Amino acid sequence: MVWEAEFITARIANPARRLRHEAGSPNTEEIEVYRNALPAEREGCCLVLGMTPELRALMAGICAEVVSVDSSAVAIAEYGPWVASPRETIVEADWSRFLQQIGQRFDVIAGDGIFGNLSGSDAAGQLLRAIHDHLAPGGVFVTRMALVPEAFEEARWTWTALAEQFRAGDIGEAEFGLTLRLFGFFRRFYDVESAMLDCAGVYQEIASLCESGALSMREREIAWRYVFRGKNWLPTETAWEGLLAENAWLVTRRELRSKSWHAYYPFYVCSRA
Ligand SMILES: C[S@@+](CC[C@H](N)C(=O)[O-])C[C@H]1O[C@@H](n2cnc3c(N)ncnc32)[C@H](O)[C@@H]1O
Repeated sequence: MVWEAEFITARIANPARRLRHEAGSPNTEEIEVYRNALPAEREGCCLVLGMTPELRALMAGICAEVVSVDSSAVAIAEYGPWVASPRETIVEADWSRFLQQIGQRFDVIAGDGIFGNLSGSDAAGQLLRAIHDHLAPGGVFVTRMALVPEAFEEARWTWTALAEQFRAGDIGEAEFGLTLRLFGFFRRFYDVESAMLDCAGVYQEIASLCESGALSMREREIAWRYVFRGKNWLPTETAWEGLLAENAWLVTRRELRSKSWHAYYPFYVCSRA
């Protein structure tokens, strides 16, 4: 699904300072994971999948050349100017189609939460193979991927449990907002077979809970920072790691522990074996 203006502007916390809401966007600690994953020889060429400005800024500060690819003209118009670097070229295209057409190889390929946008495991497998084939020798692919974790306790993340935890001050705004979208209505809007989460249904439900007063206007505002009305591919950890293992590369998982979303949104660093 092509990202609409509503989804893009919702993620911006402060337009004048060009700050975005964490959890949906990588925070400083998370950007350091991307930085630390880069190969020692960093002067090469980087491909960024998506317009994530925090990631593009990191790469433009390190790599000699950055190519950023996104299929949304709105995302490009909004976020393009956030990174003003002569080293960057922005391309409006579908990731898989772009990779099918380009002969170039990259020293670094990175994307934040990109696979959740795909239509399922076939599309994800296709993109993973294309990324693998476009890595230069010694190159690295790094991504953050939202998953149904191995130790998933559904009851802990239902919308009622999350609202309780948020109201008691046990979780912060970003922890509440993103977890509510991905797991708050899991039983109702997640299809186990396809691993697709119907986010349109989720946001309709949040809106009606606000209308009935079960969620407050502040809680609605926080939830809306992560609004998306398409479907998200949200595979189990096992399914995702199985798919990664199909390509001949070395995979390392990196996990932070300071935020609750780190339990379901780990990093994967893949290098060509
Ligand atoms: C990178 S993802 C996830 C959000 C991310 N964590 C961020 O920083 O905002 C969102 C972007 O992916 C783009 N996108 C989604 N599917 C795509 C595809 N198949 N090809 C190219 N861009 C795509 C959307 O247009 C959107 O700008």
